Amino acid sequence: TCSVSDIEIENGFFSESDFTYALNRETSYRCKQGYVTNTGETSGSITCLQSGWSPQPSCIKFCDMPVFENSVTKNNSTWFKINDKLDYECFIGYENEYKHTKGSITCTYYGWSDTPSCYERECSIPILDPKLVVSPRKEKYRVGDLLEFSCHSGHRVGPDSVQCYHFGWSPSFPKCKGQVASCAPPLEILNGEIKGTKKVEYSHGEVVGYVCKPRFLLKGPNKIQCVDGKWTTLPVCVEEERTCGDIPELEHGSVKLSDPPYYHGDSVEFTCAETFTMIGRGSISCISGKWTQLPKCVGKYVCIKWILYERILKAVREKGQVTY
Ligand SMILES: *[C@@H]1O[C@H](CO)[C@@H](O)[C@H](O)[C@H]1NC(C)=O
Ligand SMILES: *[C@@H]1O[C@H](CO)[C@@H](O)[C@H](O)[C@H]1NC(C)=O
Repeated sequence: TCSVSDIEIENGFFSESDFTYALNRETSYRCKQGYVTNTGETSGSITCLQSGWSPQPSCIKFCDMPVFENSVTKNNSTWFKINDKLDYECFIGYENEYKHTKGSITCTYYGWSDTPSCYERECSIPILDPKLVVSPRKEKYRVGDLLEFSCHSGHRVGPDSVQCYHFGWSPSFPKCKGQVASCAPPLEILNGEIKGTKKVEYSHGEVVGYVCKPRFLLKGPNKIQCVDGKWTTLPVCVEEERTCGDIPELEHGSVKLSDPPYYHGDSVEFTCAETFTMIGRGSISCISGKWTQLPKCVGKYVCIKWILYERILKAVREKGQVTY
């Protein structure tokens, strides 16, 4: 036989009142509040074997799934043992108190080591040039918020607006300067040219555009600006190797034939058959390996019919009836 006094259940107790059990008899035990068995249950069973009680009863401290605040976990366990780790991730635009978007908490004897809480990310209120006018003025700036600038006096040097990102404000803030320098003519770029006529001098804030030659693709901003004597970054023209496939067919229309290959920047012109009218642009261009949108040729008949209908309506309105 096995006896209840043969074994001590740490943090648990026998649930039946019998004292001795015959060979192969099973009994059950319960764990104290806040403890579970190896398998996460509040109660377990042990059997009296030749060698004594088996298996060893066990009641261990556990942690429940905690409450998540603006965060989620991929772990779907319902309970955790001491020293188990639980990873969590903050919702997009949120971070935990350590400014991280991910975190990990540990189940300890006293409960979870921390709360899986995340807070909306913010940008600090910037310390600015007093000549700068900022809008909107707020107590808090969140990720995605825009700040716009102008100058009380002088000229703005730098961007007209910045945005709050998770890493802070970008780009950097402008300044207001009393005197700003003008720029020398902008540089030429390889395989591209400046739009419009070139001047001898450009004043602060002036913008110049660039275009690339056919077969070349513009990389970077297509405009540069004169900022206090310096031009912003120049674009570059890189060769576009992708060519376009066959010229698409236009219903009731025809194309002025040209031979492939069709390179980036090439365009072809369409005309509609005699009794058709074109809707859309009469030419399409090959842009990075794809043709732009095809126009449409619609029957003029549609228009004639509409005009007739208008006349009939007018006649009905005037005479109360119509014969045709
Ligand atoms: C928990 O996750 C495991 C592995 O990711 C998966 O096999 C199991 O079906 C999930 N259980 C529930 C209840 O979602
Ligand atoms: C959940 O957490 C436990 C304890 O840290 C770990 O053993 C288990 O692998 C985790 N499960 C998943 C699906 O990540």
